[in-house]
Amino acid sequence: MPVKVLCQAGDGIEIRALHRGLAARIYQMVRAEHARLARFLPWAQHTQSLSDTVAFLTHARDAFIQGQAVHGGIWVENELVGMMSLEVKGPADQAAHIGYWISSRVEGKGVMSRALHAFVDYAFSEWKLHRLEIYCATANVRSCRVAERAGFLKEGTLRGARKVNGEFLDMNLFALLQPEWQARRKGSGRGPLVRPLAE
Ligand SMILES: CC(C)(COP(=O)(O)OP(=O)(O)OC[C@H]1O[C@@H](n2cnc3c(N)ncnc32)[C@H](O)[C@@H]1OP(=O)(O)O)[C@@H](O)C(=O)NCCC(=O)NCCS
Repeated sequence: MPVKVLCQAGDGIEIRALHRGLAARIYQMVRAEHARLARFLPWAQHTQSLSDTVAFLTHARDAFIQGQAVHGGIWVENELVGMMSLEVKGPADQAAHIGYWISSRVEGKGVMSRALHAFVDYAFSEWKLHRLEIYCATANVRSCRVAERAGFLKEGTLRGARKVNGEFLDMNLFALLQPEWQARRKGSGRGPLVRPLAE
């Protein structure tokens, strides 16, 4: 299957469109880190067999064809290390939310921040969006830091907004508007842009 690169983030990091040929690899990754992922990502709890991952990839393909979502794999030097998704919330409002996870093997090195930076650029330019949102559990400090580092602004906390493992989690809502991103790229917005990866 030809590789469709959605965006490149430098340092050998790419986001490539997912496809069903990756089902076994993705299933193994999710199962290997099941407890870690299921702490904040409800879908991980429901990934019990390879057919669940195949069903997810089929849904992802259909949603892409319908212009509702895009799901990408994060690759570092040809190794699949995580995922990034964009789901359109309201086409009329040109708004979407972004989700992500990365393998513990490369956590804490800046790979996700680099990937998110490139993906945000791709989202605003290719999907013609005005607003991007990220929802992070308040307890998911790492994820909140990723959103903030990418220039997203915390707009508030939604109390008991997501049920994970039988527990209602408070969720921080972060958002970034296209003009803010534009200003940031020109150097006049919040925070620095990308910086080199950690060793
Ligand atoms: C949330 C998650 C994606 C964060 O990944 P991460 O690797 O911490 O994110 P980053 O790539 O931004 O790395 C940040 C770390 O790299 C360091 N870093 C090094 N180089 C960097 C660079 N160029 N840019 C940014 N950070 C860099 C940062 O200082 C930071 O270090 P710290 O953890 O000691 O503070 C990851 O923990 C994860 O997948 N968790 C499980 C699933 C999950 O919770 N998903 C999100 C649901 S909302």
